[in-house]
Amino acid sequence: MSYEDAYSAWQSNPVSFWEEAGQQIDWFTPATSVFNAEKGVYGRWFDGATCNTCYNCLDRHVGAGHGDRIALIHDSPVTDSVSRFTFAEATAHVSALAHVLRGMGVGHGDRVIIYMPMVPEAVFAMLACARLGAIHSVVFGGFAANELATRIDDAAPKVIISASCGIEPGRVIAYKPLLDEAIDIVDEKPSGCLILQRDVHPCDLIEGRDLDYAEHVDAAVAAGQGTECVPVLATDPAYILYTSGTTGQPKGVVRDTGGHMVALKWTMEHHYGLKPGEVFWAASDVGWVVGHSYICYGPLLHGCATVMYEGKPVGTPDAGAFWRVIQDHKVTALFTAPTAFRAIKKEDPHGKLIGDYDLCHFRTLFLAGERSDPATIEWAQQKLDRPVIDHWWQTETGWAMSGNPVGLGAFPIRVGSPGKPMPGYDVQVLDDEGNPVPPGTLGNIVCKLPLPPSGFPTLWNAPERFLSSYMEEFPGYYATSDAGIIDEDGYVFIMARTDDIINVAGHRLSTGAMEEVLASHPDIAECAVVGKADPLKGQMPLGFYVTNDGVTMPAPELEKELVQLVRSKIGAVAAFKTALRVKRLPKTRSGKVLRGTMQKIADGAEYKTPAAIDDPAILDEITEALGARELIG
Ligand code: COA
Ligand code: AMP
Repeated sequence: MSYEDAYSAWQSNPVSFWEEAGQQIDWFTPATSVFNAEKGVYGRWFDGATCNTCYNCLDRHVGAGHGDRIALIHDSPVTDSVSRFTFAEATAHVSALAHVLRGMGVGHGDRVIIYMPMVPEAVFAMLACARLGAIHSVVFGGFAANELATRIDDAAPKVIISASCGIEPGRVIAYKPLLDEAIDIVDEKPSGCLILQRDVHPCDLIEGRDLDYAEHVDAAVAAGQGTECVPVLATDPAYILYTSGTTGQPKGVVRDTGGHMVALKWTMEHHYGLKPGEVFWAASDVGWVVGHSYICYGPLLHGCATVMYEGKPVGTPDAGAFWRVIQDHKVTALFTAPTAFRAIKKEDPHGKLIGDYDLCHFRTLFLAGERSDPATIEWAQQKLDRPVIDHWWQTETGWAMSGNPVGLGAFPIRVGSPGKPMPGYDVQVLDDEGNPVPPGTLGNIVCKLPLPPSGFPTLWNAPERFLSSYMEEFPGYYATSDAGIIDEDGYVFIMARTDDIINVAGHRLSTGAMEEVLASHPDIAECAVVGKADPLKGQMPLGFYVTNDGVTMPAPELEKELVQLVRSKIGAVAAFKTALRVKRLPKTRSGKVLRGTMQKIADGAEYKTPAAIDDPAILDEITEALGARELIG
């Protein structure tokens, strides 16, 4: 079957397309309705079915006689260690962990926050929640206590699973003080915490609240204690993943259970072209959606080994790290963000280190998370001599909305485009009034409802925000908040976000959230944060601020305070390093800050003075302030 055949099979009968895909999943009881259009905002997939994600990721492979196959490879240059777990070992560990969690009071529908570095126990924790029918919410380790607290308050977890520390090149991040600080701030206190002690930096446990992960799980394993997989409804939430929204309050994207499995299993074979038993490596972090779908769930659902890499593309120890991992673990497909390749290219421009490794098992490179600049794609294609597939997706969907399915026989790659719409997605481009635009015309990218399996049915605790953020602007369509074009041949091109989101090193960040932090400083009257183009990270946040009258603190000192404030409130991942003092911010006559124009000035791009500007002279002041710091271009 070709891409065209698959897409038209889906178009002519979406329900039977997904019903057939659903046969790849083991259900406890089948769906009463494969698609129930009457339920939810736009319908629900596999309504009435019961199933368990952990069962499909682990137990069924053991049951099929593949218990000795490798399920998870943890490769950690930062601790100089490699460990491997078979499906049988992973099942035993996860079952024991689920038993421990049950002892801590966790059951079906309870929330569990996982705040962990890239250790195997993070994946085991996700699967143990799935085993119990509990809803996990993984919080990326680069977020500070305040961001963690926001998520705890929203999800109200019964238990938090964390670790004593994470390890970044050259520094240890003590997680426990961040966890304790977050729990101090929140109203919704968890009843217990399960803490993984790491040798590099153990922590103190709080009596009556914290349990030692290894001690309890090892004891359960030794005593042969475990739990069976709890049947849950396909429409029950599997997890909540918070992502940046247009305010400081993150959006809790809800993923359902059955549709998630069906869609991911389909992609493993058809999009990524993997066979069970092969090795898949998503060089991301479990804290992001890519990590959820393709470090944890997708590969395991498909019976593949998944690589979990606790390191960086460069500096651990050098720009050959990715090729070393591919060689050592016989990786078939690598999925990462273009920024990782820009980092490698910068350090090893001629790709010399590639030649030092045997990449004979490596078939395809997949890129997503941010726009792939043609220079990076072409470099990777040339140096690796393999297909480089760009694909486009979002936390909200959990898998690619557009791409190039190598499992179906890829169509010609068009550099700069993340391919064509995947079966399940009727991607269209509309103008601001909601009218379709001709091919090749820039507009709002939308997907006609319903979303396919794995598409988010709502936002946790925020059904109104779900409607207002995604469903109301273009009735009948899901608004992606991406702007782009679809060309005459159906290739999608993603050009920019239409909201305040910026993409820094493949990480989705809200400039609005950063502005809220800057504005909380007592000396700041008003501020704006824009995403300035960056050759390595794609974009970097750039702040502008106006002080209250009478502030005497010198600009460099105030900038240091603001940078530190963002780091402590949002986290190092925000990569907020620059805040410029300006006399005034450019605004329209109605008071809207002209962030787009400021961004263009910073990028050294051409811009037109907006007709509605209140005072055009302010743009000269902005140019002058940027020029004085050599920040233009
Ligand atoms: N825990 C704590 N801190 C973390 C962290 C974690 N899990 N991950 C990143 N950070 C810190 C970094 O140490 C850095 O701190 P610094 O300001 O003190 O240097 C800061 O957050 C910013 O991180 P990042 O933007 O990732 O920059 P970097 O210089 O550490 O690495 C890349 C740059 C390009 C090498 C890296 O971002 C990368 O490999 N990205 C591609 C893969 C990826 O993550 N994709 C995501 C979605 S697919
Ligand atoms: P996240 O939800 O963190 O995965 O971020 C989703 C956003 O990242 C999208 O809305 C896009 O703006 C951007 N993005 C993801 N993949 C691509 C891609 N292949 N090309 C361009 N932008 C992308």
